[in-house]
Amino acid sequence: MTEAQKVGTLTETEARDELARLAAEIGRANEAYHRLDAPEITDAEYDALKRRNAAVEARFPALKRPDSPSDLVGAGLAEGFGQVRHAQRMLSLENAFEEEDVSKFVTRLRAYLGHDGPLTFTAEPKIDGLSLSLRYEGGVLVQAATRGDGETGENVTANARTIADIPQSLAGAPDLLEVRGEVYMSHADFAALNARQQETGEKTFANPRNAAAGSLRQLDARITAARPLRFFAHGWGELSGPLAETQFQAVERLVGLGFRTDPRIRLCRTEEEMLAHYREIEEQRATLGYDIDGVVYKVNDLGLQRRLGFRAATPRWAIAHKFPAELAWTRLEGIDIQVGRTGALSPVARLSPVTVGGVVVSNATLHNEDYIAGRNSAGAPIRNGKDIRIGDWVQVYRAGDVIPKVADVELTRRPEGAVPYAFPETCPDCGSPAIREPGDSVRRCTGGLICPAQAVEKLKHFVSRGAFDIEGLGVKQIEMFFVDDLLPIRKPAEIFTLAARDAANLAKIANRDGFGKRSTEKLFASIDERRVIALERLLFALGIRHLGEVAAKDLARHYGSWEALIGAVDAAHPAALAHLAGDEAEVAERAAAAADGRRVEVSKARAAVWEHLAPPPESRAAWEDLLAIEGVGAVLAVSLVTTLAQDGPEREAVDDLIKQLREITAPEQRAMESPIAGLALVFTGTLERMTRAEAKARAEALGARVAGSVSVKTDLVIAGPGAGSKAKAAEALGIRVIDEDEWSRLAGGAG
Ligand code: IVH
Repeated sequence: MTEAQKVGTLTETEARDELARLAAEIGRANEAYHRLDAPEITDAEYDALKRRNAAVEARFPALKRPDSPSDLVGAGLAEGFGQVRHAQRMLSLENAFEEEDVSKFVTRLRAYLGHDGPLTFTAEPKIDGLSLSLRYEGGVLVQAATRGDGETGENVTANARTIADIPQSLAGAPDLLEVRGEVYMSHADFAALNARQQETGEKTFANPRNAAAGSLRQLDARITAARPLRFFAHGWGELSGPLAETQFQAVERLVGLGFRTDPRIRLCRTEEEMLAHYREIEEQRATLGYDIDGVVYKVNDLGLQRRLGFRAATPRWAIAHKFPAELAWTRLEGIDIQVGRTGALSPVARLSPVTVGGVVVSNATLHNEDYIAGRNSAGAPIRNGKDIRIGDWVQVYRAGDVIPKVADVELTRRPEGAVPYAFPETCPDCGSPAIREPGDSVRRCTGGLICPAQAVEKLKHFVSRGAFDIEGLGVKQIEMFFVDDLLPIRKPAEIFTLAARDAANLAKIANRDGFGKRSTEKLFASIDERRVIALERLLFALGIRHLGEVAAKDLARHYGSWEALIGAVDAAHPAALAHLAGDEAEVAERAAAAADGRRVEVSKARAAVWEHLAPPPESRAAWEDLLAIEGVGAVLAVSLVTTLAQDGPEREAVDDLIKQLREITAPEQRAMESPIAGLALVFTGTLERMTRAEAKARAEALGARVAGSVSVKTDLVIAGPGAGSKAKAAEALGIRVIDEDEWSRLAGGAG
């Protein structure tokens, strides 16, 4: 009899009991295996239990338990990690490097809140590990997920269950509780692990953070179980009820529930106290026994945290004050120029290898030509005006995971005959002129798609993780196909014609080094799979300057389809050109005004340009609509519209690509239940209960768009005392005008 037949006679009540029994038994077996390292049953018995559990669940899907053992990656079952969509996004933190940045943070908060009374912060170490979100339902751990891109992470539940610091169940917790914190490894455990790895001939890790990440992301949870991982809780995600009224109390509550939190958390009532605690933690850094890379300050009052809310990727109510980076001195052997996908020429220092903070560094960035020459982008001296020459003794620094930088140079050790570095004025790859636009610190190759370096970087970006993410077509393969004479890939559309061209070609890919019949078939299949692509991925993949993943998502959500987006881009083109010309007029006007000591009348210069170029009203409307999208500023908008312009050089390549795709899928609209979701709002007059910035952020968080001026597209005007022409314009257009009281009711809270 098969397992399925055996469960065929179970009643629903019996099935429920049976699932509970199986969960407990499998749980016990896991515990014995992973934690105690003393298995009580054989692998075959274990597999039989899991099969029976799966069979009962298949027959009664509704009875599947939140802690179902079938969601565990069990003994010997190597599956890829599933994806988890975070109920609340996992964000990162804004960084402060100087004390002045902390001051600015506090000032900004106060201005945003319109608050000059006492303000308390928590200050605690920033753990250098990897973030993890733990979901508890009814007090039971049901899911653990990595941060991923912040919206979707990897399901590492089975692995997280093997970490002793992570409680499997909680008593007295809210019914739904997501605990967030950091998985890390102590220095002692890291050293012991590396010694063990070395002995057994396995790979060693560069630092505790990498070791923790490598250990958590093991497909076989037994390996994770054997690694000494630890967990500190420092926050939360979705909640069914509040944990406390303040950050500090909420952390105490987490401790009460059985979590470990960093004991160095303090309440600070002034900026001086924050900085004092920072210095104290910095002094203890070397003896803590685990890596930290700064101190996090958080507004203590959770009501204020709610009001402050979030920007695109970071909360307004917290900041990470980073420790100064680690330093080392070495010799600059040479300078290479790399050409990026937008044509930027980036100087890279080739160094005599040196260890900086435990990692061997042989390359570092030199930023741009001004940096090498010893001046900043405004022409003022940096490093006391010392330039950097090949052969110099240079200081290298590294902060966290960022690319190492060349920071300083020692003139007393400069070799005789060293000459100032001459930054190339032509592209080292295609020979086109490399120019600097006014105000841009970066020199860029003007070759566009004819520049092989730009084209190949664009393709690498195109297939990268947040973009088309084509399995089997990574950086190495792109470099290979790019220079292939028989079956070249030089633009995105050619990825999708590869299989057809291969079929028509005698020298098959499958006959080449590194490719077999199976791997070629798999490659073609994974390319074909991507003919269906999400709009936001497509947009990000195009590699348009200033268009990152977050903005791609915002654009995709706003327009909903490729056709709508490209239609808007075409419509907005004349207005975007007028905007650019306005920028130029403004620069010229400022210079002229400065020269003859006049006051600047920038708006007039701009207005004159707009009047002269007279973009049609539809174009202005499309342009304003684009600018009204949260996260889209004029710089990005100009870049998007001019790059994709109908007769521009890139458009043909993009159109060719689109022809190769089968379906461009619309993004999920964030479900919004707010009464103002989707509306276009205009604020005018003074608001008394919140600042304009807060009102705008709140409106956007509730799914509304906020525009600066009233037009036929406006849905609602919020008019405070002193409202003038905008309220009148709204009335003339028959648009609803409300006061601040009514706005508070609509937007909720903060009354
Ligand atoms: S609070 C909304 N507190 O640092 C994000 N984060 O650079 C609130 N981190 O992804 C994060 N120690 O994983 C917070 N004490 C701490 C932290 C901490 C480490 C990590 C966190 C976050 C990253 C941001």
